[in-house]
Amino acid sequence: MQTNLEKNRTKPASLEGKVAIVTGANGGIGTAIAQQFLAEGASVVLTDLAQSGEPLASSGDQAIFFKHDVSQEQAWSDVVERTLNRFGKVDVLVNAAGIHRHGAMMDTTVESMEALFRVNQLGTFLGMKAVIDAFRGNRQGAIVNISSCLATRGVPGQFAYAASKWAVRGMTKNAALELASLNIRVNAVMPGPTDTPMFRGLPEADQSAIAAMIPFGRVARPDEIAAAVAFLSSEAAGYISGAELEVDGAVFA
Ligand SMILES: NC(=O)c1ccc[n+]([C@@H]2O[C@H](COP(=O)([O-])OP(=O)(O)OC[C@H]3O[C@@H](n4cnc5c(N)ncnc54)[C@H](O)[C@@H]3O)[C@@H](O)[C@H]2O)c1
Repeated sequence: MQTNLEKNRTKPASLEGKVAIVTGANGGIGTAIAQQFLAEGASVVLTDLAQSGEPLASSGDQAIFFKHDVSQEQAWSDVVERTLNRFGKVDVLVNAAGIHRHGAMMDTTVESMEALFRVNQLGTFLGMKAVIDAFRGNRQGAIVNISSCLATRGVPGQFAYAASKWAVRGMTKNAALELASLNIRVNAVMPGPTDTPMFRGLPEADQSAIAAMIPFGRVARPDEIAAAVAFLSSEAAGYISGAELEVDGAVFA
């Protein structure tokens, strides 16, 4: 017979049986998240503007890819509907799609500001809004939004990108408050510089200079970000909502 202590014990971190939507799943961090979720027993709907073969290759029926622009509201309804048709429920949403632009405020164009707003901020908002009804049906749900360590303080040359990632933090906190009574948890992960196509888009000298600034002496691997996302998505984090987990090698500690 189970004792009270055993009954009340927090479940170990695992995503067995969960159904997750992961955006930006063709990117470095999104791919790692999809792989981690599949390894932990989740079924995963991978979405992106372009398809990745990697996490799908060995996943059998557990994964499916949908082409999806996160900045389009109708596209979100389609993704949720197709997820329900395929897997019958949605338990987790990870908003990992994102774009980056460099620039100080005076060099930032309206085009650049709007592009960042549409993907990083509007895309995250639309995603959260789109899954709530499906979560409600399940009486639970977990959302993890990918912000950035660049949204923890002012950083030269990151005006518009940082603003979009500060917005992700703000939306995460407010959504966590609004959705707590529905047993829906909303958290943010704040990666430091991470070895992905986005980071490798920087000039090599900048990549080395950034790595040298990090107390760990290196940038993060995508799987190190994915492990934090998986934890916050799991029932082991069942009482955590509105939190911001910095996974950044202590760069801004
Ligand atoms: N790499 C880093 O150093 C770093 C640090 C902090 C935060 N982040 C954030 O982590 C997330 C993942 O970044 P990454 O490093 O894997 O970058 P990445 O460029 O490798 O992946 C981003 C993915 O988002 C997709 N995407 C872009 N616009 C989209 C849209 N409108 N609809 C759907 N998908 C779209 C891209 O196709 C790409 O596959 C982003 O939100 C990024 O801002 C990255």
